[in-house]
Amino acid sequence: MKVSSRIAAAVALASSFAYADYVTNCLTDNVCISIGVPEVTASSGSGNLYFQMTAPTSYSWFGIGTGSRMAGSSMFIIYTDGSGNVTVSPRAGTGHSQPSHDSSLSVEVLAGSGVDGDTMTANFVVSNLDTDVASTSTWIGAYKSGSSLDDSSPEASISEHGSETSWGFDLSQATITDDSNPYVDANGDTTTDTGSGSNDSSGGSDSSSGNTGVVDSGGSTNSKTIMYIHALVASVAFVILMPFASVLMPLLGKWYIHAGLQLLSFVLMWIGFGLGVKVANDTGIIFKQTHTILGTVVICAMIFQPVFGWLHHLHYVKHQGRGAISYVHIWYGRVLMALGVINGGLGLKLANAGSGYKIAYAAVAGIMFVVYAIGKIAANMRKSRSYKKAEMHEEPSQRSRRPYNNSDEAEWRRYESGQGAPQPYEGHRYEGARYDSNRYA
Ligand code: HEM
Ligand code: HEM
Repeated sequence: MKVSSRIAAAVALASSFAYADYVTNCLTDNVCISIGVPEVTASSGSGNLYFQMTAPTSYSWFGIGTGSRMAGSSMFIIYTDGSGNVTVSPRAGTGHSQPSHDSSLSVEVLAGSGVDGDTMTANFVVSNLDTDVASTSTWIGAYKSGSSLDDSSPEASISEHGSETSWGFDLSQATITDDSNPYVDANGDTTTDTGSGSNDSSGGSDSSSGNTGVVDSGGSTNSKTIMYIHALVASVAFVILMPFASVLMPLLGKWYIHAGLQLLSFVLMWIGFGLGVKVANDTGIIFKQTHTILGTVVICAMIFQPVFGWLHHLHYVKHQGRGAISYVHIWYGRVLMALGVINGGLGLKLANAGSGYKIAYAAVAGIMFVVYAIGKIAANMRKSRSYKKAEMHEEPSQRSRRPYNNSDEAEWRRYESGQGAPQPYEGHRYEGARYDSNRYA
């Protein structure tokens, strides 16, 4: 009898190991996370997920979360509770600040949890976590070395992490047969899997260091690259190209150069938008942050700007001067450009960019502002000089022929030598001369 029950226990133990195919990733020595997906969850796509998190007690806390960024991540943070047990705190990441307790995540702490020697272990099941169990999903992890937190409240205040990382877990490799705690064996003993290697996300599954189901976190690497390209493209459009094309208008007076460059910036802006939406979707923060909301509003509002520009142009060709639509085009454009530049700053804040990036961004934005301002002042000065010259040479009856600015020197020379009149730009009717719709000056 005794022998047969031992055999039965051994068979049960062997079978529990055979099917305990949970995936494991050790972020650093003995700081590990495992996830097991019961068959029933795998087949329906949602349901219980079994977690095990272990870390030395020389860490204040250890946390993991879904996604590749803090913002929008569902996180689980463990720390000692001060009485030999471990607190599992579900939290919602809101950006680069302390994640707040999220009571909507349904967590139950299971057998095998507690502090054993200098290791804290939390086995827990989550019944309503929104993550992809059929393929690779990206996860983030962070930990902080320091004295034990010893707090039993899930709302305990934690200090900012010292180390952070992200990786891909292929949860389709994490299937366990039973919908029950896979981290204790038939005798109720913990089956902690503390691989000794560190996070290996260099590609393929990795079992050599004790990590299993860890795959190249292509998702997060890609979304970082896409984020950089998004930031670069959107910033070049708003911070450099739009103000540059705008100031060329009063400086050169050539509407087609202005319109051509602005259409280029318009296209870049939409490419930046598409990439931003892709990153925001991947990281689950779409329309949840000021940056994504304001950016979308500004970019959508920009749709009208080329239309206003064209309407202004048509108005000018017809009436030889500015109309209300011209001021709409000018001021609508200036306001949207400024909002776009501010939004880029919010993007840097959201991505917690290094101060080097922030300084570079502010410097380029500042330089472009100065270029715009100097360009406008120079164009205005040239315009008033032109007026003075015109005053000296014109009969009072001809004064309505004043040009907008004096950018076309050859035109002025012809005008001054009496061979032809410059064409006016704003508000002045031009009588008798053919209007060259390609040149505003
Ligand atoms: C995204 C596209 C565009 C943006 C952001 C934009 C922006 C601007 C801005 C800010 C100004 C004022 C420049 C100043 O401070 O003096 C301006 C002027 C002007 N724009 Fe555009 N523009 C765009 C497209 C176009 C298009 C497609 C056309 C035309 C066919 C056009 C025609 C003009 C003209 C003729 C002026 C001179 C208005 C005047 O000074 O009376 N723009 N634009
Ligand atoms: C005015 C247009 C926009 C500009 C100038 C802009 C610029 C930026 C910049 C400079 C960053 C920082 C990237 C880094 O630190 O390397 C960023 C991040 C980001 N942007 Fe935009 N952006 C714009 C619009 C949008 C829109 C419309 C969306 C989505 C709907 C979006 C989504 C994102 C996301 C998801 C990030 C990463 C945030 C994170 O890492 O947590 N952006 N953007």
